[in-house]
Amino acid sequence: MIAVAGGSGQVGRWLAELGGPEVVALTSSELDVTDGEAASAILKDLAPKWVINCAAHTAVDAAEAEPELAAAINSQGAENLARAASSAGAKFIQVSTDYVFGESNILSEPLVENHLRAPMSVYGKTKSEGEDAVRAVCEDSTIIRTAWVYSGPGRSRLGLPGSDFVTTMMALESSRDTLTVVNDQYGSPTFAHDLAVGLLQLVKTGAGVGSTMHAAGGGRATWFELARAVFEESDADPERIRPCTTKDFPRPAPRPAYSVLSSQAWRCAGLPPLRNWREALSAAMATR
Ligand SMILES: NC(=O)c1ccc[n+]([C@@H]2O[C@H](COP(=O)([O-])OP(=O)(O)OC[C@H]3O[C@@H](n4cnc5c(N)ncnc54)[C@H](OP(=O)(O)O)[C@@H]3O)[C@@H](O)[C@H]2O)c1
Repeated sequence: MIAVAGGSGQVGRWLAELGGPEVVALTSSELDVTDGEAASAILKDLAPKWVINCAAHTAVDAAEAEPELAAAINSQGAENLARAASSAGAKFIQVSTDYVFGESNILSEPLVENHLRAPMSVYGKTKSEGEDAVRAVCEDSTIIRTAWVYSGPGRSRLGLPGSDFVTTMMALESSRDTLTVVNDQYGSPTFAHDLAVGLLQLVKTGAGVGSTMHAAGGGRATWFELARAVFEESDADPERIRPCTTKDFPRPAPRPAYSVLSSQAWRCAGLPPLRNWREALSAAMATR
């Protein structure tokens, strides 16, 4: 059995959907990672073979104003859960982020797993500290970094609240004539479904256990390119989206200009790479 913390989030819901009865997806009210004792008791009771931590404070901008809460969930919470999993004899997977990386001088080479971490935001810093804390308490835990996660139209079928970048662009397509989107940040858009498929393959095969790996959509895109692709998939005119720079669109949290992830270690472990982001987006837009 696989216990998933953060089970009502995007990746958690896809894991539950794809993993069937083998996956026990726990919501934040069923398993609060900030309460270490309760987490230990729950995992002891469930006795899972695997624990996947999808729980996180993922509101990158909001985290700047609430660093203690972000640290409690992303750093201390990850440590609590890793310790609880270890005591329960379960293998542990920590899901982490491309935002553990900072500004990179190399704008053409996807970032490999041992690239220097230099987080720029509270979110990135607390997730990076979470990686270290998890390793410290559970040496053979597996850290999977992903990026720019979205679910798209499948959100409503999965009962996911809120929105992601893709659903936001779909909503803006119906309400706005034109919009400007940042075109100087490069990343690896990742369909949450594809990440969940990959995580379940990891669990099934045990490939790469104990290592740090990247699992993200193939290729690279800017937010502008991703937004245009959403419009194309919606049969809307992509020319309605105009490019702008990060400076034109200031946000509370700084973001790296380049955080494209290389999935080299994932491939070397024998795990099938996630689809190219554009192909994945088409599939996501067809998932209603
Ligand atoms: N979203 C992205 O673009 C992105 C990019 C890179 C990496 N990641 C990483 O991927 C993983 C999954 O992200 P996601 O997109 O699925 O996130 P998400 O949709 O925001 O879900 C996060 C989940 O964490 C839960 N949570 C928050 N505080 C908690 C607590 N104290 N105890 C237990 N659960 C708690 C939330 O539950 P409530 O809703 O009940 O609060 C929510 O279900 C995270 O580790 C994230 O850092 C995400």
